[in-house]
Amino acid sequence: MATLFDTRRYLSNFDAARTGHVFTDVLVIGSGVAGARAALEAAHYADVTLISKRTMEDTTTRWAQGGVAAVTAEVDSPARHREDTLGVGCGLNHPAAVELTVREGPTEIQRLLDWGLRFDESADGFALTREGGHKMPRVLHAYGDATGRALTDTLVRKLRAEPRIRGFEDCFVIDLLTTDEGCVGAVTYHEKYGHQLVWAKTTILAGGGCGRLYRETTNPELATGDAVAMAYRAGTRLRDLEMIQFHPTTLYIAGSSRALISEAVRGEGAWLVDRNGQRFMTAFHPDGELAPRDVVSRAIAITLAQTQATSVFLDVRHIPKKDFVKRFPYITESCAEFGIDVSRDLIPVRPAAHYMIGGIVTDLGARTTVPRLYACGECTSTGLHGANRLASNSLLEGLVFGRIAGETAGRAAAAQPAPAGPTALHSATPPSPKTRLDLADVGLSLRSLMWRNVGIERHGDRLQETVEIIEFWTRFVLDKVFDTPEGWEVQNMLTVGRLIAGSALRREESRGAHFRSDYPGTNDQAPPQHMDLRRSSDGPVFEPTAVGSAS
Ligand code: SIN
Repeated sequence: MATLFDTRRYLSNFDAARTGHVFTDVLVIGSGVAGARAALEAAHYADVTLISKRTMEDTTTRWAQGGVAAVTAEVDSPARHREDTLGVGCGLNHPAAVELTVREGPTEIQRLLDWGLRFDESADGFALTREGGHKMPRVLHAYGDATGRALTDTLVRKLRAEPRIRGFEDCFVIDLLTTDEGCVGAVTYHEKYGHQLVWAKTTILAGGGCGRLYRETTNPELATGDAVAMAYRAGTRLRDLEMIQFHPTTLYIAGSSRALISEAVRGEGAWLVDRNGQRFMTAFHPDGELAPRDVVSRAIAITLAQTQATSVFLDVRHIPKKDFVKRFPYITESCAEFGIDVSRDLIPVRPAAHYMIGGIVTDLGARTTVPRLYACGECTSTGLHGANRLASNSLLEGLVFGRIAGETAGRAAAAQPAPAGPTALHSATPPSPKTRLDLADVGLSLRSLMWRNVGIERHGDRLQETVEIIEFWTRFVLDKVFDTPEGWEVQNMLTVGRLIAGSALRREESRGAHFRSDYPGTNDQAPPQHMDLRRSSDGPVFEPTAVGSAS
């Protein structure tokens, strides 16, 4: 049955004849690692407009701690990196995307060095860490646990110095504009300029993930799934949205933000212990604390239930304090703010939503299924991660596919004429009957619902209930025409939550990050399948698709 998810094309009302217009060659939406890298590459071929929801620096990338996985050690090789990536991906990776990413990784690292980023070094070269799922140390980091900040500062310095890139900051992209020609830009909102239509020859969507759909998350407030929601409304194919990665260890103290405690902490030797001080990971996986992320998160959930505790603990007391403080200055400080001395005290942790593995389907050229629209970064499904992302492969993917998106979209923009331009395009949703709506409450209720029913462990009945509850809330939230980002964000969150729950309901097996207590095994009777979906006037159409068939 069609709902407002399917009938509402644009979230805001506008009329091209009366709205301000901006014209550009390439429009890039999002200034995290993928968007920034895409903009820098596209600027070799065309003029670029780069839109950031906040400042250029204020993105999820900035929060990354662990680092960038890439082959730099002599004993390592792209073949080994490929094996580890495939090893945790549980049959849903695309080998060609994996191959491309691990091969291009070292070039991207060299480029960052050329641009002035200094990764931490040891006596024998880069100081590499081993993280979950990696069979050897491979993760580069900067300033200990401040890799995201160092990477962001390097990229933004380049962006601000590039004359062909024009940055629009604190600008909310409400929707992609589509006509018969495909994607022709976006409708945006800025507090000072109001609504604007940005017309572009090509558009790159790099708007990040959706961790804020969950009560417990490592993501900043801006991660509300806007990119996937607007791509859905614009008609792109989406894939494997049920694959939400839960990071095993976030600081769990009432009143604290759920600060990430990097997997690198376990890579440097930390143990996970239960409330009785017992190590438990060796009972779940031969790699113990360095098992793949999905295994560790589920082991913690089981241990919490068995011990009736609210958290497990990281024990780093056996690591010399001066080494720990040097390697993890930010984590040491975050703990100290709550009176935890890491050399004496255990660190309370539990899992939280961390990364959207699925997303907008793209091919190896970062093309989506909508003409003139490209995508890269966390909002995409390139085929690299499969059903479970290998630690620290995401910054790498952002760099590699950001470059590719920038090149493909930049070349296309240089070679093709501008879209037909200001047209009679308009959106006019009639005002809905007045309902008093507490937007913050809708957001909080959704986050609790998703954490409870679409979290680490799922069950068909709970998923069905979630779909129905979200569709009910939609009736009085998606009928509204809001005029501030808070309203559009909640509408996007409901849209993406509905799609995640629907995908999780249809995948009747457990695989990678998706665990169904009513289907606890992986379906080995048939070849692995993606859960694709697209919009139709009758509701989302879910289409299981063989892995490796055309993107
Ligand atoms: C971490 O530092 O544990 C996060 C790195 C990642 O998500 O890849």
